[in-house]
Amino acid sequence: MDRIHARTLRRFALKKKLVLATAIVTGSAWLLAATPSTRQVAGDPAIPKRVPAVFPAGWRFPAGARATFAPHAIVAGDNRLAAQVGAQVMKQGGNAVDAAVATGFALAVTFPEAGNLGGGGYMVIRMADGRTDALDYRETAPLAATRDMYVGANGKLNGESTIGSKASGVPGAVAGLIEAHRKYGVLPISRVLAPAISLASEGFIVDTTLNRSLASEKYRIGGFAGKSVFFPNGAPPAIGSRLVQPQLARTLRLIASSGSRDFYRGTIADSIVAEMRRNGGLITKEDLARYQPIWRQPLRSSYRGYSLISMPPSSSGGTTITEMLNILEAYGPISAFGSAERIHALASASQRAFIDRNSKLGDPAFVRVPLSTLTSKGYARAVAKTISRDHADATTQLASELREGNETTHYSVVDGAGNAVATTTTLNDLYGSGVFVSGAGFFLNDEMDDFTSRPGTPNMYGLIQGAANSIAPGKRMLSAMSPTIVLDPRGNLLLVTGARGGPRIISATSQIILNVIDHRMSLFDAMSAPRIHHQSLPDSIGVETGGIERSVLARLTQMGHYVYDLRGIASAASIMRVKGGYEGMDDPRSHGGAVGF
Ligand code: GLY
Repeated sequence: MDRIHARTLRRFALKKKLVLATAIVTGSAWLLAATPSTRQVAGDPAIPKRVPAVFPAGWRFPAGARATFAPHAIVAGDNRLAAQVGAQVMKQGGNAVDAAVATGFALAVTFPEAGNLGGGGYMVIRMADGRTDALDYRETAPLAATRDMYVGANGKLNGESTIGSKASGVPGAVAGLIEAHRKYGVLPISRVLAPAISLASEGFIVDTTLNRSLASEKYRIGGFAGKSVFFPNGAPPAIGSRLVQPQLARTLRLIASSGSRDFYRGTIADSIVAEMRRNGGLITKEDLARYQPIWRQPLRSSYRGYSLISMPPSSSGGTTITEMLNILEAYGPISAFGSAERIHALASASQRAFIDRNSKLGDPAFVRVPLSTLTSKGYARAVAKTISRDHADATTQLASELREGNETTHYSVVDGAGNAVATTTTLNDLYGSGVFVSGAGFFLNDEMDDFTSRPGTPNMYGLIQGAANSIAPGKRMLSAMSPTIVLDPRGNLLLVTGARGGPRIISATSQIILNVIDHRMSLFDAMSAPRIHHQSLPDSIGVETGGIERSVLARLTQMGHYVYDLRGIASAASIMRVKGGYEGMDDPRSHGGAVGF
């Protein structure tokens, strides 16, 4: 077991009262010391003025442009056609939840690499009247799953957690979207699904992004039934051609007429089980019939006077972001963006929050998650004391067990009334397990790889995780998805954000929030700014190529950090309230868009 970190936990438990008292005294002191100037935007006293960002000379995205502006309502996501569907539904009188559900179903048609019916996700909701909610529609392990099902006779992982039928968890997406609509939607479900049905039955024009994405995953898709849809003549549909998906249209019509019943108990369920039988998968009719999405209390936290509403376990996203931000708040004043001091603080806070994430988090129905400790200001203050000002600490000295994933999609929605929805959904890998449900027209996930297949062995994202996230029948695998809503110090909606990118979701989402709050960046700059990533193991800082100055790199190396290049760190989609309305944008690292009116 970790030495420094365990000691911190023990010391924290013993001195909780003292720590709480200290929090009352020093918390406000830090707040005063750390809060930047509070000059406001003229005309809206609740929106602090933005400060132009300066990025390193070699950085690939410019600062200073403006995101898409919409005075009333907006959707931002990885796929423009699906964002258009969300905006259209709001124009027809739907609210933000109707739009999120419509966008989710449209993504399953127009963005098959991550949009899905065969995966799962999370939705964080804040209604304009102040109600908040969090929906967990993560996949579950089939009843026949066992802890060591991916460990071969030689003791090594057999690879079946990432491709083929054994990789799939019981899908939660359809149940989740239908449930979100049942509780909060205002339009009939048939109208919410109508645009996705048209896109599937009448088709849409294949763009370069889809063509390239399919081509790059031929090996994954080509071994299963999706080959006939996506590689009809051995190649993906040509750019500019129309992709029609009649099987998927039929499935969507069944969902429009029966809600989630047919998918989990009827003919679609039969098709899923038949596909499993053909390929040695584990999901049965009983697994599908038992699947339930779960409404959870959203995680509420604060950072320098702002409020965060985020996703509790079974995702690690909200917990890890909360712990990281609390550590940074306790660590001290904010150094300049891009400085070695700032990157050291960010990386060290992230390293420590990931140590806790990888060893202590799992499905709360199966393991005791120390949520109130991990998200408390007092605990963060104790952890912050373990960060030195001028040198890195080895993860092995801080903790014992570790790691987590990537090809997901996030979208953010705000409607004309100010209701906000942040949704992240995934198949895990691009096109999930590659397995395509014949007759029903959709891919199944390979989410089982997000479990700890073997403690100490990295999963596809290099995450080394602990026993809290081991496989058990009916259990939800730990996720990094981090749909988050931020309120300003007056309690007004400020930011709706989240990302795709496995564990890097946590880094991108937290850094966008920090860029907006600490560095007062505009949405465009906050999304474009270079990012860093530290997931505790490997014990190193990933930095986006060209994203840090050479002198900063030299200083970080001198401090004892190992720094390596990453082409991109996650891809986010965010909306920010601005004077007169909202700005929204997809990540400049991606090819989606924001659509509003
Ligand atoms: N499959 C990636 C995640 O849930 O974090």
